[in-house]
Amino acid sequence: MHLPRELQAAVQQEVEQEVEQELKQHAARAGSSRLAAASAELSRQYKDGNFSSRAVQTDAQRAAYLAVRLPATYAATWNVFSELRQRAPEAHIHSILDLGAGPGTAVHAAQQVFPDIASATLLEADSAWIATGKRIAAACPGLQSENFRWIRQDLSQSFSADPHDIVVIAYALNELAQSRRDALLKQAWSLCTGFLVVVEPGTTRGFAVINAARSFLIGQNARLLAPCPHQDLCPMAARGDWCHFSQRLERTALHRRLKGGDLGYEDEKFSYIVASKGEAQPALARIVRHPMKHSGHVKLSLCTTAGLESKTITRSQKQAYKLARQAVWGQAWEQRAPEEDVSEKETAHE
Ligand SMILES: C[S@@+](CC[C@H](N)C(=O)[O-])C[C@H]1O[C@@H](n2cnc3c(N)ncnc32)[C@H](O)[C@@H]1O
Repeated sequence: MHLPRELQAAVQQEVEQEVEQELKQHAARAGSSRLAAASAELSRQYKDGNFSSRAVQTDAQRAAYLAVRLPATYAATWNVFSELRQRAPEAHIHSILDLGAGPGTAVHAAQQVFPDIASATLLEADSAWIATGKRIAAACPGLQSENFRWIRQDLSQSFSADPHDIVVIAYALNELAQSRRDALLKQAWSLCTGFLVVVEPGTTRGFAVINAARSFLIGQNARLLAPCPHQDLCPMAARGDWCHFSQRLERTALHRRLKGGDLGYEDEKFSYIVASKGEAQPALARIVRHPMKHSGHVKLSLCTTAGLESKTITRSQKQAYKLARQAVWGQAWEQRAPEEDVSEKETAHE
């Protein structure tokens, strides 16, 4: 996947302004050197599972975030919203509340998946991000940015907002003190009329935040829509593993320049939970690892209502085999087990 053209152009414009500033101030140096350094630092922190947007304070750091992290958080939230739409195709999604909005990434991704969104409220503590987000939204003509309400708000304080169809907290819950996270989730849950979406990096730390949010929301009588097929204790956490998924995204030329890599794509790893206020139709099972495709059979690692299972689908199971050949990590697996399935409980890491 890639960013919509308008959003990409708006981000590029923001970043280029910063490069131009650089060139004016340091005529002899390459314009993107400070940006490249800021981007390398962001990537390093993110890989170490130690990323915090408190590290994003200068214009160069903000531009680096726009160039290298926004496409990745956009890709992950787009993936999660797409899953929501697939599991709840009849849901009417007209409004979204984005908590810890940064430059508005999650709202842009939601607009792509739910074109009927007519109003968005974005809460963010950092006024520089709000200014950047407003400029980016205004540069995307298809977006009805006049219906965006940006509010400067510290989420570690309680706040008031109107109810919205979707409430999203993307890559922001981990930035709050642990003691404040449940209070924010409680407030987010009370403000959502349809679905609460929480997304975090697909690291052990990010997953721990998601798993704690999952338990908290189950305690609030939420119905889990995705990725879990059940509301029992997470079997991945129980075995010391972490549930996460991956979304591939194209790297732009700017992204490659700042990151100094040749690959034309990157894989963003993320963990998430979607909780529903109404009845939910979760998947029968979820593919939790890359399917292993061999000649004549496919091995699937599944999270099911009975726990983690490893299932081998052979060529003789015609329809299931055809689906298994196309299956990807993160997808729902809706095939009921025919008798000839080879299924075994997973007890250890693969
Ligand atoms: C990693 S960024 C994610 C931004 C955006 N959701 C995205 O996916 O690109 C985390 C955001 O949470 C905001 N944030 C962190 N702590 C906050 C707080 N206490 N109140 C409001 N916003 C906060 C940061 O300013 C930052 O914009």
